[in-house]
Amino acid sequence: MYRDPVESLEPLHHRHAAIRTLRVGMIGIGTVGSGTFRVLARNRADIAARAGRSIELVMVAARNLERAAGIVGDSVALTSDAMQVATHPDVDVVVEVAGGTGPARDWVLAAIAHGKHVVTANKALLAVHGAEIFAAAREKGVIVAYEGAVAVSIPIIKALREGLAANRIEWVAGIINGTTNFILSKMRDEGLDFAAALAQAQALGYAEADPSFDIEGIDAAHKLTLLAANAFGMPLRFADAQVEGITALQGVDVACAEQLGYRIKLLGVARRQAAGVELRVQPVLVPATHLMAQVNGSMNAVMVKSDAAGLTMYYGAGAGSEQTASAVIADLVDVARLDGVHAAQHVPHLGVHAYATNALAVLPRAAVHTSHYLRVPVRAVNQIQAVAASLAEQKVPVRQVALAAERPGTGPQVLVLTGPVEQGTLDLAVHALQARAEVAGAVTTLRVESLEG
Ligand code: HSE
Repeated sequence: MYRDPVESLEPLHHRHAAIRTLRVGMIGIGTVGSGTFRVLARNRADIAARAGRSIELVMVAARNLERAAGIVGDSVALTSDAMQVATHPDVDVVVEVAGGTGPARDWVLAAIAHGKHVVTANKALLAVHGAEIFAAAREKGVIVAYEGAVAVSIPIIKALREGLAANRIEWVAGIINGTTNFILSKMRDEGLDFAAALAQAQALGYAEADPSFDIEGIDAAHKLTLLAANAFGMPLRFADAQVEGITALQGVDVACAEQLGYRIKLLGVARRQAAGVELRVQPVLVPATHLMAQVNGSMNAVMVKSDAAGLTMYYGAGAGSEQTASAVIADLVDVARLDGVHAAQHVPHLGVHAYATNALAVLPRAAVHTSHYLRVPVRAVNQIQAVAASLAEQKVPVRQVALAAERPGTGPQVLVLTGPVEQGTLDLAVHALQARAEVAGAVTTLRVESLEG
């Protein structure tokens, strides 16, 4: 027996007719919110076709209602009370794009408590309060989606969660802050100074409201926390991450790295070791010929090493209004599809995956195992071998030693590239080196990442 196609299609047709519009309430209409409004309006028909239902912005909370009205016109209800959006019965999903970790936490938890799905681009909120938020969402059977929180235009969360779902992930490493990559590129390529480059990044809307989050590596660490939780099924361990930004980076090291065939990038790295996970953000040397070294301006790139797929790399805009909107709306499409589906089939909540029970610990700094670059000011050029010998004596594998090209106003400097060594061992060796009579100033060290399989 088989069913007549006309008969079997009829109930399907009825079912489709019953699917109603997904009603969106948005909190915040700044850079990301206004981009989301524009893209939703511009691509309305295509988005509805992909989501299987239409997605409509019905309500917006904004601090400045006049400014908000200038963006959304009279098509959308406006309120200055974000809590109203979070709890309104006519809202199915709350998009939180206001930022911050104070009131945003209350709004998101209220939305969840009222049975609403949440889409957010707020990496700080999830990195800091994610455990609480995802637990509440699981309890209520609602979705919290956050593609826009990490490397905005790159669908890296989807890649880890879906495209690479078959794999055991070994490491994730990436340029995941657009502002600092923009600053480093401008300083290197146009000789701009740090402050001028930062001011440009701010004017272009790349930087956080408090740009110290960008330049001190905090924003990248927020994103890395989310990536590591996705990749390894580990809890959100932002507080344990080692975080170093680009404010202490010296121009002389950028030039010396170039001399050795490397480029300096602010990299987030999450890597499994036998005893735990390395979770760290810092300026590192990457080979100048590597694809990662070619990622310039506000662009981001993420590499993933996994056991079956091998090495994969993802590249795209790391900041920007419509670039983030693209990810926010992709999440809305997911919500539109999964709303009403049994919660077990939803996007898994971070930190509460079934496979997170063997909570992976973050390794202490001393246990991080990488190669290093050292710049050692010395009293005379003939002391190059003494530097190498001192490091070798302290069990640091020395791979390359060179004299830095002469620079006006500086004395001779020895440059060293080491093989892989634990940070603890290196720290002891640098301490010993620093005490030697040949050494004329502070020794600078930076990690080196080969980014190979
Ligand atoms: N300030 C962030 C950056 C914005 O520069 O990457 C995107 O998350």
